[in-house]
Amino acid sequence: MRSDEGDMGGIVKRRKLFVVAVCLCIGILIALTLMKLLKPAKHDELKEGIVVKGGRILLPMPELEGRMSVEEAIATRRSIRSYERVPLKIEQVAQILWAAQGITDPRRGLRATPSAGAIYPLNVYLVVGEDAVIDLPAGIYRYDASSHSLIILRRGDVREELARAALEQPWVKEAPISLVITAVYERTTSRYGSRGIRYVHIEVGHVGQNVYLQAVALGLGTVAVGAFYDDEVRVVLGVGEDEQPLYIMPIGVPERIYKPTLDELKEYYERHRGD
Ligand SMILES: Cc1cc2nc3c(=O)[nH]c(=O)nc-3n(C[C@H](O)[C@H](O)[C@H](O)COP(=O)(O)O)c2cc1C
Repeated sequence: MRSDEGDMGGIVKRRKLFVVAVCLCIGILIALTLMKLLKPAKHDELKEGIVVKGGRILLPMPELEGRMSVEEAIATRRSIRSYERVPLKIEQVAQILWAAQGITDPRRGLRATPSAGAIYPLNVYLVVGEDAVIDLPAGIYRYDASSHSLIILRRGDVREELARAALEQPWVKEAPISLVITAVYERTTSRYGSRGIRYVHIEVGHVGQNVYLQAVALGLGTVAVGAFYDDEVRVVLGVGEDEQPLYIMPIGVPERIYKPTLDELKEYYERHRGD
């Protein structure tokens, strides 16, 4: 073999090795990029103090005692449609969700609001606006009652979309958060037949009232919104036909609070008693 033939063979070998190495590098780069793209969303923008476990945001424990009596909360409850532009705390959000559907009897898994046959046909979704709750990113979450945690369903501020579905009611767009309560009738009708529909509607009223009163006790305000296009709300939430949206409850810090005095009440009742 001539010596220049040997040199050529070496050059070809080295070139092949170089091509293989480049291909390997490109392959590794593609694999890394794909891994990053396909990796399930982590709540990396969540600040310290918010615990994420198994894709769930673990909510702070609810308070079991408050500073406002139930009488004061009932007297002060009003439908509130104007809110201050201040963010809510996650503790407030957690307390409201707990009042809506949280566990109150851990021995039997019973919840804060009554339910026919303890079947619990209602789902509670939390819509969070941008910079609306300290340390909680904008998005749609589902409240998981038994673990008192939030499951993220969608990222981003959907308040405008939700307000559009609710006949452009401005309070739905302006409130920092909204609860959306849906029902899976089937859960109750499979035991109680068509009467189950009535039970489910009564139950959402219980949830609504708890949310109203808990909001007042926290210095917040809400309004029960029943006027919306069901299908459009389903699209915003990304839920199927088996879920019936029943209430949207925007919640925020009220711009104004009115609390009646006993004298005002007396005067009102006297007038209506014909005294
Ligand atoms: C089933 C139901 C549906 C309602 N729908 C709406 C609604 O779509 N938009 C709204 O602004 N208020 C809505 N409200 C709130 C009522 O307008 C409010 O309760 C009523 O004016 C009495 O005022 P108060 O809640 O301050 O006592 C609804 C209330 C109920 C109970």
